[in-house]
Order: sequence, then structure tokens, then C-alpha cells
Amino acid sequence: ESNSFVTNLASSLSVDTETLQKRIDELSTFSDTPAPSVTRVLYTENDVLARSYIKNLMGLSGLSVREDAVGNIFGRWIGNEAVLAPVATGSHIDAIPYSGKYDGVVGVLGAIEAINVLKRSGFKPRRSLEVIMFTSEEPTRYGISCLGSRLLAGIESLAKDLTSTVDGQNISFLDAARSAGYAKEHNDLSSVFLKKGSYSAFVELHIEQGPILEEEGTSIGIVTAIAAPASIKVDFEGNGGHAGAVLMPNRNDAGLAASELALAVEKHVLESGSIDTVGTVGILELHPGAINSIPSKSHLEIDTRDIDEKRRNSVIEKIRQSAITIAKNRGVTLSEFKIVNQDPPALSEKSIIEAVEAASKELNLTHKFMISRAYHDSLFMARVSPMGMIFIPCFKGYSHKPEEYASGHDMENGVKVLALTLAKLSLQ
Ligand code: GLV
Ligand code: MN
Ligand code: MN
Ligand code: MN
Repeated sequence: ESNSFVTNLASSLSVDTETLQKRIDELSTFSDTPAPSVTRVLYTENDVLARSYIKNLMGLSGLSVREDAVGNIFGRWIGNEAVLAPVATGSHIDAIPYSGKYDGVVGVLGAIEAINVLKRSGFKPRRSLEVIMFTSEEPTRYGISCLGSRLLAGIESLAKDLTSTVDGQNISFLDAARSAGYAKEHNDLSSVFLKKGSYSAFVELHIEQGPILEEEGTSIGIVTAIAAPASIKVDFEGNGGHAGAVLMPNRNDAGLAASELALAVEKHVLESGSIDTVGTVGILELHPGAINSIPSKSHLEIDTRDIDEKRRNSVIEKIRQSAITIAKNRGVTLSEFKIVNQDPPALSEKSIIEAVEAASKELNLTHKFMISRAYHDSLFMARVSPMGMIFIPCFKGYSHKPEEYASGHDMENGVKVLALTLAKLSLQ
């Protein structure tokens, strides 16, 4: 009985694309930088306003809303068999400096719209359906990516480290969380951990952040695996000095050490033998930062990823060796080489891949299987729940810049596939 209902469901799903777009535009105004760029950083005033905006929409959709100690937000539609593990979906709304309005947001506002779509269709879930807005998928403020989902996955070392982590302004994580209304009770963040089996499935809708779907004219990407990300912090220290007076042979320039390491990162990545290996030095800071002062300190943050974990790890090891050699040759001190995270890849669950594929077919949407080169909260939700992801095309594959764009029609397709997938999984 339930199966024929779901088969008929495909044709009765209607997405309110206009409202979805209006909400995406409204949410984008909670930003620290001018439009069309979006900058929304963890626990800032705009982040707190955006959170209220999301909670309000969850309420309007009839979801019961709960928040945990770090501000992961959960909105639940209680199913007919509420004792069963729910099916969850969601993504993030924080935005790196000068980025766009679709990264993550499509997977939160789109998930809320998917709930609305199912409610309008008359569908009643068996398992409860839950929309999750994850805290700080982006590493902007505390250097930790997927902070909320890592904690949900029960990473104890992170829960412990966060109690002594500070941002660039020396504001502690706990103080920042408290200023946003979280972490009130105590310093123990282990209350955030999910028990394995808390969800029967987790599905994330996201823009592709790559050009393939648009180029091929394919509507839906079904993610089979998420590439393995890593990030590293490096500090060099030298003696600094006067840019005119200190002669070249007498210098130990921490800035040049950093520059040389940045080029070494590129070299090691290119020499991996695979196009799938990538590396980026996205942060490079010089101290004191004056034109007539030799840099006495430099700070780099390196992002490197691969679908092959071993190959990614060997790149990290080569970067480490280069940092040591460069410091020695230039007479500077390598005062820090810290691997902040070095995560394995994650595989999607077969049953969820199949549910997304069946949903795409029933909706007559073209689809293809693909890997995610970007990381997502799904990488960590996969540790506590069967996981799957749905990609939609985005303009020229642009992401992490203001030109990021997904069309109303592509979002409509993504929301429909998500809604139908959630419906199927809720009946399983
Ligand atoms: C997510 O924002 C990523 O950097 O992959
Ligand atoms: Mn991002
Ligand atoms: Mn994202
Ligand atoms: Mn540092």
C-alpha cells in the first residue's frame, strides 16, 4: 500500500520555488560583507540572526525545534512510528569570507521546502523526518571544518580541545558560543554526541561546486563518495630587521620560507600522479606586515585533498619534509607544523544511493554518479548513520565566491528528489 502511494507521490510534488528563492535572498542579507558577496561567521551577530531566521521557518513548517550545546539546530516532523530512528537531512548556512548564497543554504532551506512539499502532497511519514542545520561547516573562525557534525559523530578529542580553543582575536570557543546563547550549562560538549543508530539515514542536498552537471546537462548528481580532506598550520620564525640595512646574505626571511613552502605544496601535489590530488595555501600571513621590515614571522594554512587517502597522506609527509628543509636552508625556525585534520574519505550507503536513483527516475530527471571533491557535514554524519548526497548543477561550477549561483529550476529538481527520497526512506 505504502509503495503505490510513493509511486504516485512523484507526480504530486510541487515546489514553491519562488518562496525558496525569496528565502535564499533574505538569508543572504545576514552578511558581514556587501552583496553579492556573503560572509557569515560562526556565532557572530549575523550568524545568530540567520539562526533565528531558520528556526522561525522550521516552526512555520510545523517542525518541533531543538538546539544542542554548540547550536546544531534540529527540526523534527514526527512520524506515525515515532519510536523508529528518524531519517535526517540538512546542511550548513555559515559562509566563508566573500562567498555566495547557495553553498550549504540550498541544503537547509531546500530541506525545509522538501518538508513543505511532502506536507502539501498529503504524505505522512512513518519514520520521523528531521531537518538539521549544522554549526560551522566552514573552518573560518576556529580553523575546524564541520565542527558541529564532527561533534555529532562523537569525536571526543575535539570536544576536549574546543574547551581551550581561541579564535584570531583570542576569543575562546566557549565564550563565543555563550555570547550566541549556547554552551550555557557546562564546559562539557559531549552532550552533543549522537548515539550510533540515532538516524536510519542521512541525506544532504548541495550544489555541486564543480562544473560537471552543468556541462553535461544532467539534473541530479548522486554522490558515491566524499574525498578525504586535510588541513595544516605552519609557522616560521626568523630575526626580521630593517629592509634597507640588513644585507641579503645576513637575512633569515620567514616570509620567503613561507613562499617557498607554498610553491613546494604545489609541486608535491602536481607530482602525485593524479588529477584528483589538490592543494591550496589559502592563508599566508606575514609579521609585522610592513613594506620596510623583513618578515620575522610567517603563518600558512594549507588545504590538501584527494579521493585516495594514502596518496593524500604522502603529500602531507612531503610537505612536512619540505618545511623542515626550507627552515634549515634559510636559517629560520619551523615553530609549528600542525596537522589540524587529516580525515579519511566517506562512502555513501548503497540503499540511500538506490533511493535517490529511484526518486530521480520516477521524477524523469537525468542523473549521474559522482564523487564529491568538496567536504560536507555528510563526511562525518556517515560515521553515525548511513549517508547519501544529492548534487544539483551550479553556474560554471562556481563556489566559495560571490558569483555562485543555482537556477530556480535546478533547485526545484533537487528539492523534489530530496522530498521523494526522504519519503521512501521514511517508509523503509
Ligand atoms: C567546504 O566548504 C569545502 O571546503 O569543501
Ligand atoms: Mn563551503
Ligand atoms: Mn557547503
Ligand atoms: Mn600558527
